[in-house]
Amino acid sequence: MMTAPEIIGGTDAAALRIGPAGRMDFASLRAIELAAFETLRNAGAVSGKAAASDDEELQAYLDAGLLFAAFAGNTPVGYAGAIVAGDRLHVGEMDVHPDWQRRGLGRRLMQTLLARASARGLRGASLTTDRFAPFNAPFYASLGFRMIEGEACPERLRQILASEGLKGLDPARRIAMLLDFPG
Ligand SMILES: CC(C)(COP(=O)(O)OP(=O)(O)OC[C@H]1O[C@@H](n2cnc3c(N)ncnc32)[C@H](O)[C@@H]1OP(=O)(O)O)[C@@H](O)C(=O)NCCC(=O)NCCS
Repeated sequence: MMTAPEIIGGTDAAALRIGPAGRMDFASLRAIELAAFETLRNAGAVSGKAAASDDEELQAYLDAGLLFAAFAGNTPVGYAGAIVAGDRLHVGEMDVHPDWQRRGLGRRLMQTLLARASARGLRGASLTTDRFAPFNAPFYASLGFRMIEGEACPERLRQILASEGLKGLDPARRIAMLLDFPG
């Protein structure tokens, strides 16, 4: 009798797949986001009650064709969602469940979104994030994003930073980042 390969709980990165997520995954994606909130809390980036994206936000990523998950077997263990804002991809959310972090899934999720954006002829990408957590701004910088501040920061991103402040995120820790595709 053939034995099914052990994927969940295994360490074989090749057994982990990045693929489109759907509406049936929303509850799992929210659970991942809530669990990953604790990673941010441990890094001092957030405090207070954990919150996750609502249906409307996840649906916007889905409608844009820019909602991807990392799957261990059929189980989502991470996800990234984006929309198109003007001539850029805007990454709205990215989380990997703490049990599955540090295996390259975050990088693969972001590369998937960036590849889609480039294939659509977009100029680049944007996001807002924490300046100091090593898996936030420094990680995105390793993918080619640069911090953008003051007058150089587009109004659209300033508004997102302002709304994050109203939601209780520390404005001193938040930063907008831009990436330009070559050519
Ligand atoms: C950001 C996040 C999605 C990255 O997912 P991941 O699967 O762990 O990422 P990767 O394994 O691809 O690692 C990417 C890089 O981040 C950095 N990194 C990730 N976790 C780290 C940690 N705990 N300490 C230091 N650096 C870390 C490393 O530079 C790593 O690159 P390396 O593997 O070449 O060293 C994940 O850390 C997470 O869910 N964090 C909490 C929620 C969050 O911050 N979301 C993003 C908000 S903007």
